[in-house]
Formats: sequence, C-alpha cells, structure tokens
Amino acid sequence: MYTHQLLEGKKGLIFGAVDEASLAWHIAERCHEEGAEIVLTNASFAIQLGDVKRLAEQTNSPLIECDATDITQLQSLFEQTVNYFGGQIDFILHAVAQSPNIRRKRRYDDVNYTYFQQTLDTSALSLHKILQVAKKMDAIAEWGSVVALSYLAAERPIHGYVDMGDAKALLQSICRTFGLVYGAEKHVRINTVSQSPTRTNATKSFGEFKIMQAFTEDMSPLGNATPDSCADVCVMLFSDYTRYVTMQNIANDGGFAAAGLTDSFINNSKFVQLREDENYKD
Ligand SMILES: NC(=O)c1ccc[n+]([C@@H]2O[C@H](COP(=O)([O-])OP(=O)(O)OC[C@H]3O[C@@H](n4cnc5c(N)ncnc54)[C@H](O)[C@@H]3O)[C@@H](O)[C@H]2O)c1
Repeated sequence: MYTHQLLEGKKGLIFGAVDEASLAWHIAERCHEEGAEIVLTNASFAIQLGDVKRLAEQTNSPLIECDATDITQLQSLFEQTVNYFGGQIDFILHAVAQSPNIRRKRRYDDVNYTYFQQTLDTSALSLHKILQVAKKMDAIAEWGSVVALSYLAAERPIHGYVDMGDAKALLQSICRTFGLVYGAEKHVRINTVSQSPTRTNATKSFGEFKIMQAFTEDMSPLGNATPDSCADVCVMLFSDYTRYVTMQNIANDGGFAAAGLTDSFINNSKFVQLREDENYKD
C-alpha cells in the first residue's frame, strides 16, 4: 500500500463506519495510513451490532457514540472530540444514510411519509446539523474540509433508490449552501463524493443490487470504482492539495455519469443476442 503522509498532523472526525464493508471503514483506514489522527463515531445500535470497535483498536482511535440526527448528542460529540484532540478538527467525513422505506420494500409511489422524513433527517439533514453545531462551537479549523458521501440518484432517478434519491439531492444542496456560508467566514470547504454502487450493509435491502452493479460495471469505461478508490478521493479532499475546491460533487464512478453507451455494454450485454436476430441487422 502506498502512502504519502498527505494528512500528517491533521485531525479528523469520521461518521458511519459499522463494519469492514463500510465505505467509512476504508476511508478511516486510509486517513490513518496517511498520518491523520482520527475519532470514530456511530449510533449506539451500530456500535452494538457492528464491528467498529475493532477499527477503533486498529487505528488507535476513540469511538464516541452519537445519533447524527440529535443536536444534544452532536454537541457532546464535538465537545469530546475537541477535548481529545486538544484543539479544532481539520476534517469531517459524513457517511450516514438510512431509508426505512427501502428497508421495508416500499415503492416511490407508495412511500410511508413518517419513514420519508426519517430518511431525509438521517441521510441529509444530519449533515446540516453537524455543520451547524460545529460552526456554533467553532469546532472546525480554518481551511478545514468536510466530505459527505452521495450518489448519482441525486441527479438522475435510479431504480430501487426510492426516497434516497431525494435525500441525496438535499444532501448535495446543503453541501453547496453551507459551503457558501462556511467558506466565506472560515474558509471551510464542503464537498460530496458520488461513489459507484458498492456492496455494503446499507445496500442489503436493495432488490436487484447485483444487477445494478453489473450494469454500472458495463457502462463505466473504467469499471465500478472500488471502496479504496473512494477513500483515496476523500484523502485528497481532506488534504491541503484541494484548498480551493468547495461546494462540488465529485463523481468517483469510473466515468458512469458521463458515459452514453460503452463498447463493454454492447459486447457483454443481452444485445449480443440481437446481432443474430434478422430484425436487428443493419
Ligand atoms: N454503498 C453504496 O453503493 C453507496 C454508493 C454511494 C453512496 N453511498 C453512501 O455512502 C454512505 C455510507 O454508506 P455505506 O454504503 O458505507 O453503508 P454502511 O451501512 O456501512 O454505512 C451507513 C452508516 O450510517 C450510519 N447511521 C445510520 N443512521 C445513523 C444515525 N442516526 N446516526 C449516526 N449514524 C447513522 C450506520 O450506522 C452506518 O454506519 C451513505 O451516505 C451512503 O448513501 C453508498
């Protein structure tokens, strides 16, 4: 594994690692390898059921329980984190999402609105709450960096994503709008990274996830982006090399969002059979 110590001397707070498959797990490991000191946080249910204590031992980091939708718990988290570091935080990763509608297999035209509000609160408003609490406590250092993980469904409706597409659209809007305020006042930059479909705990309730992944693999010139590549992009955004990058959504998706029709799709898909069909001959 390569390392360039891009985050040497930096202190980061990482939300959302639950087990080895979590994108936040890969990102925490890379931040640690790149020289950062980190604090890990997750909701109590995830700490009880998941494996994040092992990551905390592995990276020599404290693990602080916090429901990212609860202002009082966020205030306590920031207080404890700043105390632990003995100063302000340089970077924050938001990798928090949950949709009760998806978990209960609701369709987009038959959602439960209480669940919908929970989806928006956990997956999008939590970013606003984190930023607002941090700003009021002046917990993020000048030129600090905040990254939230997003998905293409914020811009284009995607099969099976139900209310999470709306949540990601709101998440990206919060990134831009808060970026305008926090950038001007404290030079804090806020970006989102849209990652390729990646098998994690959060995708277990998606029907047909493997088909979706196979499709995006075929339709991405570089193939689906790996979790480690997502970690690399986050390290870059946390580092001093991206000091003037803010309010952006960076696609780490092997080119999927920009591709029209790939050779790979034509050659590997069911369309190969159509070549033999007289009705489809040129
Ligand atoms: N896996 C993918 O295909 C994919 C693609 C693009 C973006 N993302 C995004 O990446 C992020 C991380 O997801 P993941 O796929 O690694 O799955 P994951 O299940 O490992 O992570 C989701 C995390 O959210 C946490 N969480 C849920 N409710 C919470 C709350 N109230 N307070 C604090 N934490 C809470 C969970 O405990 C979990 O750790 C999410 O924002 C997800 O939408 C995932």
